[in-house]
Amino acid sequence: MTSSFQFQEWLNAHSARTELALDAMLDSNQTTPNRLHEAMRYAAQGGGKRIRPLLVYAAGSLGDPTAEALDAAAVAIECIHAYSLVHDDLPCMDDDDLRRGRPTVHKAYDEATALLVGDALQTRAFEILANAPCEVDVRLTMISALAAAAGSRGMAGGQAIDLDSIGKKLDLIALQKMHAMKTGALLSCAVELGGIAAHLDPAQMTCLKKYSQALGLAFQIVDDVLDVTADSQTLGKTAGKDVANDKPTYATLMGLDYAQNQAKQLQSEAIVSLEIFGSKGQALKDLALLVVNRGK
Ligand code: IPE
Ligand code: IPE
Ligand code: MG
Ligand code: MG
Ligand code: MG
Repeated sequence: MTSSFQFQEWLNAHSARTELALDAMLDSNQTTPNRLHEAMRYAAQGGGKRIRPLLVYAAGSLGDPTAEALDAAAVAIECIHAYSLVHDDLPCMDDDDLRRGRPTVHKAYDEATALLVGDALQTRAFEILANAPCEVDVRLTMISALAAAAGSRGMAGGQAIDLDSIGKKLDLIALQKMHAMKTGALLSCAVELGGIAAHLDPAQMTCLKKYSQALGLAFQIVDDVLDVTADSQTLGKTAGKDVANDKPTYATLMGLDYAQNQAKQLQSEAIVSLEIFGSKGQALKDLALLVVNRGK
């Protein structure tokens, strides 16, 4: 009980910190071109669970980062994530009208603006990391990690596999690979950025990698399950979209029971990987519980 009460406080404080950092690091609506900057803020600031920034802060608390380095990493990863959602919702991808309880960017603005919002959020993320007030090697390592996670061997590559898999029956290995790339890569990177900023040693980074790989897969499994079991109002996005779009998912291919058990097993794997951190790993542990139990 005590731990969950403390976690709620930690969660509130770091969610608020994320909103403040995003607000400070995104261009104002008054910057030319005003409409593009307004749409970037619309995409990045309109709600969202902020799981990736929270993972940055939680991993960062394991070492000795500067507050500025962690804030830069938290905003950079959320900008990449927000961009991925804007593009994911476009008619040429998942064709979604609802995101975070509001019209998607291409509905609230237009398709060309949505495309540019994604482009500009992506470059803003790297600009923020490049200018972060911390050691040059920390900055460079963070930039390299984020570029790899967002690109063709990570999120963008996973999205390509996702689109190529419409109407197909993927086997379990292929499904895991797609999920690890399209969703796991950015979640893992969030944890990695926190670890880099906190100057963790290689053995600690290896344990964090095990944690984040398990969590990343669990995250997308839960997303697949909720697409079937939750309603649009709860999700803030269109429920039932995966079946409507004929997407192979954990829920549709493996069944809800298997998917839910798998998510639980991955949650345990993630938590076991945190053992070396002792009580300092509590925020990461509670985030793993939050991710897998959300929607329940
Ligand atoms: C949704 O991510 C897209 C996936 C990678 C599954 P989130 O569930 O983290 O979305 P927000 O940021 O809370 O809106
Ligand atoms: C999205 O997966 C992964 C991304 C890289 C954005 P989904 O297509 O399942 O995400 P939602 O359900 O639209 O949020
Ligand atoms: Mg998608
Ligand atoms: Mg989608
Ligand atoms: Mg989904």
